[in-house]
Amino acid sequence: MARKKIVAGNWKMNMTPAKAVELIATLRPLVDSNDVDVVLCVPAIDIVPAITATRGTNIAIGAENMHYEESGAYTGEIAPNMLVEAGVKYVILGHSERREYFHETDEELNKKVKKAFEHGLTPILCCGETLEQREMGITIDWIRMQIKSDLAGVPASDVAKMVIAYEPIWAIGTGKTATTGQAQQVCKAIRDCIAEIYDEETAENVRIQYGGSVNAGNAKELFAQPDIDGGLVGGASLKPEFGKIVNYK
Ligand code: 13P
Repeated sequence: MARKKIVAGNWKMNMTPAKAVELIATLRPLVDSNDVDVVLCVPAIDIVPAITATRGTNIAIGAENMHYEESGAYTGEIAPNMLVEAGVKYVILGHSERREYFHETDEELNKKVKKAFEHGLTPILCCGETLEQREMGITIDWIRMQIKSDLAGVPASDVAKMVIAYEPIWAIGTGKTATTGQAQQVCKAIRDCIAEIYDEETAENVRIQYGGSVNAGNAKELFAQPDIDGGLVGGASLKPEFGKIVNYK
């Protein structure tokens, strides 16, 4: 069975609630597609208005982060059941910005991945290397370590349903996209790693996105690669250009 492509926007720390509703009104007619799953991952405060604004459309709403506890004294954090009740379907976990600026560890991410599945949320788990790691030639080793740590103890049946986003850190927000060959090579290595830890069937089902300066000009070639099942899009998801990425063919 062919994997369905999935194109997700990551708004990061952009868009007030009013701007979010405006942007969704602009994007709605542009991202209509039966071939691609369309997701917008939005700041926590935009989730409720975004759910309302996308009702009856093909757009699913995702969160950009989530805590691994059910509730309690974690000032400023969002619990999984809050996301579920609001209507959220996806959650980005382990974005490199969260790993770098908020010191998220693989151990915490492993708890978050498990908790997301417990609540029926689909994780978009991010991994990626720094420029220094790429130049040292340890990209694949590093990514395999991230995947193995973050998925430790997660059953195959869950992994088959999740999304993994490969985002080379040096390509994020820099306008510097990985070459198609580089992106495909690492996405394939991720799939091979899943086959190794689990089995071929799980590897065939897990969807792997590329992220890092995806735009209307490079999406077609990237998404045509055998192991790239769509994209995680930052800057270009804040513009009508996102519609062109969804309709990349
Ligand atoms: P850009 O598309 O702005 O490079 O961001 C990529 C990203 O970090 C998506 O999560």
